[in-house]
Amino acid sequence: MKTGETISFAVDIKPLFRERDQRSMKFAFDLWEYDDVKQHVAAIGERLRDGSMPCDGAWPQEQIELFQRWIESGCHRSVRLRESESIASRRMHGRLLSR
Ligand code: HEM
Repeated sequence: MKTGETISFAVDIKPLFRERDQRSMKFAFDLWEYDDVKQHVAAIGERLRDGSMPCDGAWPQEQIELFQRWIESGCHRSVRLRESESIASRRMHGRLLSR
């Protein structure tokens, strides 16, 4: 990831979770699903930081920091989706104002 670029789930975060992680954690949440990760982001961040997850060995520091920066920068889903979301919300806002 280059500096200054948006950190997104689709590009930067999802690929950090191996198939083993996704399978093992399905009982609690789906690590390959943005909505699930977002909903459990605090617990996930805590377990990554304290090194207790993944169960077979902690992440390297730079991966933990990337995950942390993703949280701090607002948990973007993907660059493209966010753009379309903001267009949709502007349209919606316009409709509400013109009523
Ligand atoms: C990056 C990968 C992973 C993340 C972020 C992660 C995260 C978490 C979190 C947040 C919990 C607490 C869930 C809750 O209490 O609702 C948890 C529990 C658990 N995880 Fe993972 N996990 C990962 C990978 C794995 C792997 C590879 C295994 C083992 C094969 C595993 C096995 C478990 C088990 C058995 C629990 C329940 C017991 C406990 O809370 O320690 N996880 N994990």
